[in-house]
This record gives sequence, structure tokens and C-alpha cells, in this order.
Amino acid sequence: MELQSLLAEMWIDYCSLNPSAHQIYKLLSASENKILNDHIALRTFKHPRLGIKQMAAVFESLGYTEKKEYFFKEKRLYAKHYEHFDVTQPKIFISELLVEEFSGPVQKAIFEIIEQIPDSVIQSPKFCYSGRSWNISYQTYEMLASVSEYASWVSSIGFRPNHFTVFVNYLESFKNIQQVNEFLEAHGYRLNTSGGKIKGTPSELLEQSSTIAELIPVQFNDGIFNVSGCFYEFARRYKDESGKLYQGFIAASADKIFESTFKNKEE
Ligand code: NI
Repeated sequence: MELQSLLAEMWIDYCSLNPSAHQIYKLLSASENKILNDHIALRTFKHPRLGIKQMAAVFESLGYTEKKEYFFKEKRLYAKHYEHFDVTQPKIFISELLVEEFSGPVQKAIFEIIEQIPDSVIQSPKFCYSGRSWNISYQTYEMLASVSEYASWVSSIGFRPNHFTVFVNYLESFKNIQQVNEFLEAHGYRLNTSGGKIKGTPSELLEQSSTIAELIPVQFNDGIFNVSGCFYEFARRYKDESGKLYQGFIAASADKIFESTFKNKEE
């Protein structure tokens, strides 16, 4: 599989699940020649069969290398980001839930999900957008949500892009992230306000904002229920002392970005 077709298929999957992200993309496209992605974020469970390593395999085979790692103690998450040798390609940010840090019943529920995933799905180059290859009840979803919003997200949505991220530096008609935010709000989109609408500062070399994930209907064993889908992120990077555009992530900001899929997030 070639990188461009992989990224294109991930984008199609993401848009099909999240019509509002595609609408925003189209709104921005009206005044932009080209919209570059800063990064794509993926979520998984830490487990010998899954985890960051398995999720990253296809990207490593296509020219990506591991760069930095990140710890989110309170959310019990660990993450790494990967960069391509062609810097115009999006970075890949992969996080995993530290399953072993949860109680027995929570671990059991997650293991029951993992056991249902065929090896062929995990080994496929399409694994990162394979979606949900297991059955789950809404009751289990709610139990997971009560201890980890992240666990409930992966268990209901599956393996697919959690968000794409517009690289604000390359937008021609927006000077800064504030203008992008105002544009989104003027069009009726809600922003994640956890940690402020703009997370990070120029001195931290990265500013980010994101929409709130829209609720989407998902089939569970016991019926169809609305759950948080994906969101769209916006990132502006600054140059470091050496004059190079900073390429890493700020754990404190990413921690707040994770909350874009929190249900009932207040304005
Ligand atoms: Ni992100």
C-alpha cells in the first residue's frame, strides 16, 4: 500500500463517520488552494496483540520513524509520535490506554473486545481504519465510560482516525489560530474549551484548538445509541531557537485535546 492511498482512505473513513469535519474542510477549501494536515491521531489499547507498535507498523513500512513519547498519568495513556522523511506528510500521533492500570472488571471487558479481533484485521495494512470488528453492549460502553472516556471511545468507534489536524501555518486566508476559531464559531461549530480555546502558546512553539466531537449513532448489541465520534483539530507551529519549525507535541495541551470526545462538554 502506498502512503498517499493509505492517507486518502483514512480521510474518507474519517469523513464518512464525521460529516461535520468534511463540512469544515469544504468551508476552508473555499478560500484555500491546499489544506495540509499537521498530524493524524490514532487511539488503541495497550495489549500484546495491539498497541502502538502494531498501529505504527504500516507507517514505519512507508517511511515514518518514531520520534517522541508522551505520558498522560491521570488519563492512564501513553503516546508516541512518528514523522515521515518528507516533512510535508502528516505526523502520526498514536496513543494507547494503559489497560493494566484499571480494575479487574474493566480489564476483563477490554480483553473481551480484543479477543474478538481477528489476527487478519490486526495484520492488515488497513488496521488503522478497520473500525470496530467486535460486538459490545451499551451497558459495557457505559461501564467503560465511567472510568475512562478514552476506553469507551475506542470500544464504540474502533480503530480509525480520531482526528485530522489542519496545519494553520499553511493556510493563506487565516493569519492565526484565533481567526480560524472565530471562523468556525461563526459557522456554528463548537470548540473544545478545556484549557481554553487555544491550547499552548507561541513560547511553547505549538498552539492547538479543536472542535467538539459530534454525537453519532452507533450499533450496540442492545440497540443504537449516540456516542461521541471524532473531532477536527487545528495546529499552528513556531520556529525553535535553531530556526526550525517545532515538530513535537505538548503533553499538557494534548491532555486537554483528548477531552474533545467527552460527551456533554459544556461551552
Ligand atoms: Ni492532535
